[in-house]
Amino acid sequence: MALDTAASPHSASPVTHELRGKVLLVTVDNPPVNALGVDVRRGLAAAIEHAEADAAVQAVLIVGAGRNFIAGADIREFGKPPQSPALPDVCNRIEASHKPVIAAIHGAALGGGLEIALASHYRLAVAGAKLGLPEVQLGLLPGAGGTQRAPRLIGAEAALSLMLSGKHIGAQEALKLGLVDRVGSSDDVLAEGLAYAQELLAAHAPVRRTRDAQGLAERAAAQAAIDAARADTTKKSRGLFSPLKIVDCVQAALDQSFEEGQRTERKLFVECLDSPQRAGLVHAFFAEREVQKTPEAKTAKPRAIETVGVVGGGTMGAGIAVAVLDAGLPVTMIERDDASLARGRAHVEKVYDGLIAKGRMTPEAKAAILARLSGSTSYDALAQVDLVIEAVFEEMGVKQAVFAELDRVCKSGAVLATNTSYLDIDAIANSVKRPQDVIGLHFFSPANIMKLLEVVVPKQVSADVVATAFELAKKLRKVPVRAGVCDGFIGNRVLAVYRTAADHLMEDGASPYQIDKAVREFGYPMGPYQVVDLAGGDIGWATRKRRAATRDPKARYVQIADRLCERGWFGQKTGRGFYLYPDGARVGTPDPEVEAIVRTERERAGIEPRSFTSEQIMRRYMAAMINEGANVVHEKIALRPLDVDVTFLYGYGFPRHRGGPMHYADTVGLANVLADIREFAKEDPLFWKPSPLLVELVERGANFASLNQPL
Ligand code: 3HC
Ligand code: NAI
Repeated sequence: MALDTAASPHSASPVTHELRGKVLLVTVDNPPVNALGVDVRRGLAAAIEHAEADAAVQAVLIVGAGRNFIAGADIREFGKPPQSPALPDVCNRIEASHKPVIAAIHGAALGGGLEIALASHYRLAVAGAKLGLPEVQLGLLPGAGGTQRAPRLIGAEAALSLMLSGKHIGAQEALKLGLVDRVGSSDDVLAEGLAYAQELLAAHAPVRRTRDAQGLAERAAAQAAIDAARADTTKKSRGLFSPLKIVDCVQAALDQSFEEGQRTERKLFVECLDSPQRAGLVHAFFAEREVQKTPEAKTAKPRAIETVGVVGGGTMGAGIAVAVLDAGLPVTMIERDDASLARGRAHVEKVYDGLIAKGRMTPEAKAAILARLSGSTSYDALAQVDLVIEAVFEEMGVKQAVFAELDRVCKSGAVLATNTSYLDIDAIANSVKRPQDVIGLHFFSPANIMKLLEVVVPKQVSADVVATAFELAKKLRKVPVRAGVCDGFIGNRVLAVYRTAADHLMEDGASPYQIDKAVREFGYPMGPYQVVDLAGGDIGWATRKRRAATRDPKARYVQIADRLCERGWFGQKTGRGFYLYPDGARVGTPDPEVEAIVRTERERAGIEPRSFTSEQIMRRYMAAMINEGANVVHEKIALRPLDVDVTFLYGYGFPRHRGGPMHYADTVGLANVLADIREFAKEDPLFWKPSPLLVELVERGANFASLNQPL
């Protein structure tokens, strides 16, 4: 097979080779993660050609420079015109080598990186190696022979589990599965690899091709594993395209010759590559990395955070305390009185007791963590902490009183953060003598689980405090998004608008159950009214009452939710809300009485109900979300559209394969979204006001992606 091995002009190849005794050492050096871009593919193919031609070479050892072996195909090449040689051909060229090829793995050997290793004849890994076939997370399947080689090597069941979960496994587990032949006794991958190669040469170890491995020899067992995976995937993959294609590929591995199977794999891989889901998932991958690169995080040095204070031990305070404890830091919790403090501590303990009950934590580990939690009813206990997160009641007066205390007791340079959902953080900052130290850290409930952290940046905050917040997010393993100060910041501000659109739909004729179903079919785990029932209808009710005085009297206001709250129907915790939850059920059933209330409210408002299809529901729901997302970017509350996308992916259950609302808008076409908004505005021009940014982009023929430049 002749492969294109010519290196690009003017550039040094990222693949070098040198003779070490009888072993040709081939090093892939393509920072940051040795992705398999075109020059790496060419370099690898050329190295094998060289080895075959040079009589002095008796074996080939492939290693990665830096922290990883090879992290996979170069994701940035997806969607661009293909350049030869293709990765499957490079893998086949490696496997066809007449001289043994050994892969020595440290760090990531993922996707195409693991496929290079699978095409090699022998594999060694050292401690800290991360092996996996995570293509499914990008809407893809392993497309360089992985779906054909992995089942032959480790059996259908294990291969399906790797490919369908996309999980990374360590060296020992890989050894157990037979994915690697040996685990090095030190973490010096080069020394281990060379020693292994010498050993294989001394033993006259033959070329051993994975395509000939016998992992599928027990045909009945393999078929049973495929059938089970197909049934499970059909049930769980909720509209995702690539998982079932992975199962199809493994079926092909069982039924077809290796070459035919590779052709099947190629065909299905290209289908995945061309799917909008792949584009959405790849957008999500890059967006979640891009959000971390806030301007301040690049220019300012974060302050050291060794100790943390949390004020308030309620739902959020306790969750935040757990998140901080889990990151290995000590926490001092402040509450109003001893009883509240005991309750706060009990909230924290409950999280760990849950883990113990599930067998995921030992009582000793819990005790060790709780040893880092101290509590007090006196603010003086916060005198030495590096950062305080306030999570008391959502009332400006209460918050400002807390900040006055923090201003009094905290050491100079301590970061003072508020977890407020809506309040004006500039007003909180202005109430203390050190506004440069005040920032918003908006966690989402449950704070120890939800990945999103809105870092809300008030006017006077200093850059190093912003950088500190981003550094803290990393420690807490959260995804931080930089947001400006406004009512609701990015997430809750946009949420309020599309929730209102849903309420309008409900009063106009769609039932809450129909709306929830349409939203679920779009890919959300839950619909908006299920979410209300889960969070508690009383929370939104309190906010609505608070805002009643300032609401535009001309704006349409749907009262259905208020009618439910007046009856004490707050959702799951009261046994009924929009749904019924008999006997503590966690999944609700539709409630005819709610439907009757909805009918009465329509009559009261003089509305003749219309019917809506799921598609019509989603057009309004998404148009509202996109339009407010555009406003948030226009007003520089979000730095870029991708920051809005990440907010909704990580804080609001937006289906990842759709990339986030702004990416989704680009796939629909901004002109279409604007046309919808103008159409809806004919009925309610006050609510449906096209965002100036949306109008401008449509006029320029541009999309949101054009604004997603690196900062
Ligand atoms: N292609 C291109 N760029 C990549 C990449 C890839 N496969 N993997 C990572 N990068 C980039 C990131 O975008 C980031 O760039 P930036 O610095 O400009 O933001 C940089 O490498 C470092 O990445 P991380 O910040 O994620 O670094 P970590 O050290 O935290 O993690 C990692 C390293 C575990 C390798 C992680 O990057 C990762 O999981 N990468 C994706 C792996 C993957 O999905 N591989 C399969 C690709 S699909 C495939 O191989 C198809 C084949 O079957 C044909
Ligand atoms: P909560 O009512 O569960 O807890 C508030 C706690 O603060 C109570 O334990 C109370 O005793 C304590 N507290 C009140 N005044 C205090 C004071 N002066 N000093 C010390 N402790 C005091 O409320 P929750 O839900 O935890 O909310 C807290 C904050 O987090 C609010 O600002 C809220 O808007 C915000 N938030 C809430 C989210 C949620 O989903 N519940 C999500 C994100 C933010």
